[in-house]
Amino acid sequence: MADVEGVTVRDMRAADVPEALDLLEEVAAEGIWLGTEPGFDRHRRREHWLDGLSDPMVRTLVVVDRATDRLVGQGTVHAARYGVAELGMNLAADWRGRGVGGLLLDALIEAARGMGAHKAELQVWPHNEPALRLYLSRGFAVEGRVRAHYRRASGQVWDAILMGLGLDRVLADGSHGSGLPDAPCLPSSIQIRDA
Ligand SMILES: CC(C)(COP(=O)(O)OP(=O)(O)OC[C@H]1O[C@@H](n2cnc3c(N)ncnc32)[C@H](O)[C@@H]1OP(=O)(O)O)[C@@H](O)C(=O)NCCC(=O)NCCS
Repeated sequence: MADVEGVTVRDMRAADVPEALDLLEEVAAEGIWLGTEPGFDRHRRREHWLDGLSDPMVRTLVVVDRATDRLVGQGTVHAARYGVAELGMNLAADWRGRGVGGLLLDALIEAARGMGAHKAELQVWPHNEPALRLYLSRGFAVEGRVRAHYRRASGQVWDAILMGLGLDRVLADGSHGSGLPDAPCLPSSIQIRDA
Protein backbone atom coordinates (compact mmCIF):
# COMPACT_ATOMS: atom_id res chain seq x y z
CA MET A 1 0.00 0.00 0.00
CA ALA A 2 1.32 3.38 -0.98
CA ASP A 3 2.26 5.92 1.63
CA VAL A 4 -0.39 8.57 1.59
CA GLU A 5 0.34 10.06 4.97
CA GLY A 6 0.70 13.78 5.08
CA VAL A 7 -2.36 14.74 3.11
CA THR A 8 -5.93 15.53 4.03
CA VAL A 9 -8.87 15.03 1.68
CA ARG A 10 -11.72 17.38 2.50
CA ASP A 11 -14.53 19.33 0.88
CA MET A 12 -13.54 22.36 -1.15
CA ARG A 13 -14.20 25.74 0.45
CA ALA A 14 -14.69 29.04 -1.34
CA ALA A 15 -11.22 30.11 -0.19
CA ASP A 16 -9.68 27.10 -1.98
CA VAL A 17 -10.99 28.09 -5.40
CA PRO A 18 -8.08 30.31 -6.57
CA GLU A 19 -5.54 27.63 -5.70
CA ALA A 20 -7.66 24.91 -7.30
CA LEU A 21 -7.82 27.03 -10.47
CA ASP A 22 -4.03 27.40 -10.44
CA LEU A 23 -3.69 23.63 -10.12
CA LEU A 24 -6.13 23.05 -12.97
CA GLU A 25 -4.14 25.47 -15.12
CA GLU A 26 -0.91 23.63 -14.32
CA VAL A 27 -2.32 20.21 -15.15
CA ALA A 28 -4.11 21.49 -18.27
CA ALA A 29 -0.81 23.02 -19.43
CA GLU A 30 0.73 19.52 -19.48
CA GLY A 31 -1.61 19.00 -22.42
CA ILE A 32 -2.06 15.23 -22.29
CA TRP A 33 -4.11 14.34 -19.22
CA LEU A 34 -7.29 16.41 -19.10
CA GLY A 35 -10.14 17.36 -21.38
CA THR A 36 -9.65 20.88 -20.08
CA GLU A 37 -7.06 22.71 -22.14
CA PRO A 38 -4.93 25.81 -21.50
CA GLY A 39 -6.87 29.00 -21.96
CA PHE A 40 -10.03 27.59 -20.38
CA ASP A 41 -12.42 30.18 -19.00
CA ARG A 42 -11.12 30.69 -15.46
CA HIS A 43 -13.98 32.94 -14.45
CA ARG A 44 -16.59 30.46 -15.62
CA ARG A 45 -14.88 27.58 -13.83
CA ARG A 46 -14.66 29.68 -10.68
CA GLU A 47 -18.40 30.40 -10.79
CA HIS A 48 -19.09 26.74 -11.52
CA TRP A 49 -17.13 25.60 -8.45
CA LEU A 50 -18.65 28.26 -6.21
CA ASP A 51 -22.17 27.31 -7.37
CA GLY A 52 -21.31 23.68 -6.67
CA LEU A 53 -20.61 24.42 -3.01
CA SER A 54 -24.34 24.82 -2.38
CA ASP A 55 -25.55 22.23 -4.90
CA PRO A 56 -26.58 18.89 -3.34
CA MET A 57 -25.84 17.17 -6.67
CA VAL A 58 -22.19 18.26 -6.62
CA ARG A 59 -19.27 17.45 -4.28
CA THR A 60 -15.87 18.93 -4.90
CA LEU A 61 -12.99 17.61 -2.80
CA VAL A 62 -9.47 18.88 -2.41
CA VAL A 63 -6.25 17.22 -1.28
CA VAL A 64 -4.13 19.36 1.01
CA ASP A 65 -0.50 18.76 1.95
CA ARG A 66 -0.68 19.08 5.73
CA ALA A 67 2.97 20.15 6.05
CA THR A 68 2.63 23.18 3.79
CA ASP A 69 -1.14 23.66 3.57
CA ARG A 70 -0.71 23.59 -0.22
CA LEU A 71 -3.61 22.34 -2.32
CA VAL A 72 -2.16 19.42 -4.30
CA GLY A 73 -5.26 17.75 -5.70
CA GLN A 74 -8.85 18.30 -6.60
CA GLY A 75 -11.72 16.04 -7.60
CA THR A 76 -15.38 16.49 -8.40
CA VAL A 77 -18.51 14.38 -8.44
CA HIS A 78 -21.56 15.55 -10.39
CA ALA A 79 -24.62 13.41 -9.81
CA ALA A 80 -27.18 13.43 -12.60
CA ARG A 81 -30.85 13.10 -11.69
CA TYR A 82 -30.93 9.71 -13.40
CA GLY A 83 -28.53 8.34 -10.78
CA VAL A 84 -25.13 8.42 -12.46
CA ALA A 85 -22.27 10.32 -10.83
CA GLU A 86 -19.59 11.69 -13.14
CA LEU A 87 -16.11 11.79 -11.61
CA GLY A 88 -13.07 13.88 -12.46
CA MET A 89 -9.78 14.43 -10.66
CA ASN A 90 -6.28 15.80 -10.91
CA LEU A 91 -3.14 15.94 -8.79
CA ALA A 92 -0.12 18.23 -8.90
CA ALA A 93 2.70 16.54 -10.84
CA ASP A 94 4.96 16.22 -7.78
CA TRP A 95 2.21 14.38 -5.87
CA ARG A 96 1.53 11.66 -8.42
CA GLY A 97 2.60 8.05 -8.19
CA ARG A 98 2.38 7.91 -4.39
CA GLY A 99 -1.12 6.53 -3.95
CA VAL A 100 -2.75 9.88 -3.25
CA GLY A 101 -4.97 9.41 -6.30
CA GLY A 102 -6.41 6.29 -4.69
CA LEU A 103 -7.20 8.18 -1.53
CA LEU A 104 -8.98 10.88 -3.50
CA LEU A 105 -10.82 8.42 -5.74
CA ASP A 106 -12.05 6.41 -2.75
CA ALA A 107 -13.42 9.63 -1.25
CA LEU A 108 -15.11 10.58 -4.53
CA ILE A 109 -16.73 7.15 -4.79
CA GLU A 110 -17.99 7.47 -1.21
CA ALA A 111 -19.33 10.92 -2.06
CA ALA A 112 -21.14 9.49 -5.09
CA ARG A 113 -22.69 6.80 -2.89
CA GLY A 114 -23.68 9.43 -0.35
CA MET A 115 -25.51 11.30 -3.12
CA GLY A 116 -27.56 8.18 -3.83
CA ALA A 117 -25.97 7.43 -7.21
CA HIS A 118 -26.30 3.84 -8.44
CA LYS A 119 -23.30 4.20 -10.74
CA ALA A 120 -20.11 6.23 -11.15
CA GLU A 121 -18.81 7.04 -14.61
CA LEU A 122 -15.82 8.80 -16.07
CA GLN A 123 -13.92 9.29 -19.26
CA VAL A 124 -10.18 8.93 -19.67
CA TRP A 125 -7.76 9.25 -22.57
CA PRO A 126 -6.58 5.86 -23.88
CA HIS A 127 -2.91 6.82 -23.24
CA ASN A 128 -3.40 7.78 -19.58
CA GLU A 129 -1.95 4.66 -17.98
CA PRO A 130 -1.75 5.93 -14.38
CA ALA A 131 -5.42 6.96 -14.45
CA LEU A 132 -6.55 3.76 -16.18
CA ARG A 133 -4.63 1.64 -13.69
CA LEU A 134 -6.08 3.57 -10.81
CA TYR A 135 -9.66 3.25 -12.03
CA LEU A 136 -9.27 -0.45 -12.83
CA SER A 137 -7.83 -1.01 -9.33
CA ARG A 138 -11.05 0.39 -7.86
CA GLY A 139 -13.28 -1.86 -9.94
CA PHE A 140 -14.20 0.44 -12.81
CA ALA A 141 -14.95 -1.49 -16.00
CA VAL A 142 -14.27 -0.28 -19.52
CA GLU A 143 -17.67 0.23 -21.14
CA GLY A 144 -16.52 1.48 -24.49
CA ARG A 145 -14.31 3.68 -26.59
CA VAL A 146 -15.74 6.71 -28.30
CA ARG A 147 -13.78 7.27 -31.47
CA ALA A 148 -12.58 10.55 -32.96
CA HIS A 149 -14.69 12.27 -30.34
CA TYR A 150 -12.92 15.24 -28.75
CA ARG A 151 -11.47 17.96 -30.92
CA ARG A 152 -8.35 19.36 -29.27
CA ALA A 153 -6.96 22.86 -29.60
CA SER A 154 -4.21 21.34 -31.75
CA GLY A 155 -6.81 20.25 -34.29
CA GLN A 156 -6.34 16.57 -33.46
CA VAL A 157 -9.45 14.59 -32.58
CA TRP A 158 -8.96 12.13 -29.72
CA ASP A 159 -10.71 8.94 -28.68
CA ALA A 160 -11.81 8.49 -25.08
CA ILE A 161 -12.42 5.45 -22.91
CA LEU A 162 -15.73 5.27 -21.02
CA MET A 163 -15.56 3.58 -17.62
CA GLY A 164 -18.26 2.72 -15.13
CA LEU A 165 -18.51 1.40 -11.59
CA GLY A 166 -21.71 0.02 -10.09
CA LEU A 167 -22.42 1.43 -6.65
CA ASP A 168 -25.37 -0.80 -5.81
CA ARG A 169 -26.93 -4.01 -7.06
CA VAL A 170 -28.00 -2.54 -10.39
CA LEU A 171 -24.73 -3.33 -12.13
CA ALA A 172 -23.68 -6.18 -9.86
CA ASP A 173 -26.78 -8.06 -11.04
CA GLY A 174 -25.81 -7.48 -14.66
CA SER A 175 -27.00 -5.11 -17.33
CA HIS A 176 -30.49 -5.83 -18.60
CA GLY A 177 -31.11 -2.77 -20.68
CA SER A 178 -34.61 -1.36 -20.44
CA GLY A 179 -36.19 -4.76 -19.95
CA LEU A 180 -37.51 -4.59 -23.51
CA PRO A 181 -35.72 -6.73 -26.10
CA ASP A 182 -32.91 -5.07 -28.04
CA ALA A 183 -33.75 -4.13 -31.62
CA PRO A 184 -32.52 -6.88 -33.97
CA CYS A 185 -30.66 -4.36 -36.12
CA LEU A 186 -28.14 -3.76 -33.30
CA PRO A 187 -24.77 -5.43 -33.97
CA SER A 188 -24.83 -8.83 -32.27
CA SER A 189 -21.64 -7.98 -30.37
CA ILE A 190 -23.55 -5.50 -28.20
CA GLN A 191 -26.94 -7.18 -28.03
CA ILE A 192 -28.23 -8.35 -24.66
CA ARG A 193 -30.12 -11.53 -25.35
CA ASP A 194 -31.50 -12.31 -21.91
CA ALA A 195 -33.32 -8.99 -21.39
C1 LIG B 1 -4.42 9.98 -12.63
C2 LIG B 1 -3.98 10.35 -11.21
C3 LIG B 1 -5.15 10.97 -10.45
C4 LIG B 1 -3.56 9.04 -10.52
O1 LIG B 1 -3.19 9.35 -9.20
P1 LIG B 1 -1.78 8.82 -8.60
O2 LIG B 1 -1.75 9.13 -7.18
O3 LIG B 1 -0.69 9.34 -9.47
O4 LIG B 1 -1.97 7.27 -8.82
P2 LIG B 1 -1.23 6.09 -8.08
O5 LIG B 1 0.07 6.52 -7.51
O6 LIG B 1 -2.22 5.45 -7.17
O7 LIG B 1 -0.97 5.13 -9.32
C5 LIG B 1 -2.04 4.57 -10.01
C6 LIG B 1 -1.52 3.42 -10.84
O8 LIG B 1 -0.74 3.91 -11.93
C7 LIG B 1 0.56 3.39 -11.88
N1 LIG B 1 1.43 4.46 -12.32
C8 LIG B 1 1.79 5.55 -11.64
N2 LIG B 1 2.57 6.33 -12.42
C9 LIG B 1 2.68 5.69 -13.61
C10 LIG B 1 3.34 6.01 -14.83
N3 LIG B 1 4.03 7.13 -14.97
N4 LIG B 1 3.21 5.13 -15.85
C11 LIG B 1 2.49 4.01 -15.73
N5 LIG B 1 1.85 3.65 -14.59
C12 LIG B 1 1.94 4.51 -13.54
C13 LIG B 1 0.76 2.96 -10.44
O9 LIG B 1 1.73 1.94 -10.31
C14 LIG B 1 -0.62 2.47 -10.10
O10 LIG B 1 -0.85 1.21 -10.72
P3 LIG B 1 -0.98 -0.13 -9.90
O11 LIG B 1 -2.14 0.08 -8.95
O12 LIG B 1 -1.26 -1.13 -10.97
O13 LIG B 1 0.34 -0.28 -9.20
C15 LIG B 1 -2.78 11.34 -11.22
O14 LIG B 1 -1.67 10.70 -11.79
C16 LIG B 1 -3.07 12.63 -11.95
O15 LIG B 1 -3.62 13.55 -11.37
N6 LIG B 1 -2.68 12.72 -13.21
C17 LIG B 1 -2.85 13.94 -14.02
C18 LIG B 1 -4.32 14.30 -14.20
C19 LIG B 1 -5.14 13.13 -14.69
O16 LIG B 1 -4.69 12.35 -15.50
N7 LIG B 1 -6.38 13.07 -14.20
C20 LIG B 1 -7.29 12.01 -14.58
C21 LIG B 1 -7.96 12.34 -15.84
S1 LIG B 1 -9.06 11.02 -16.38
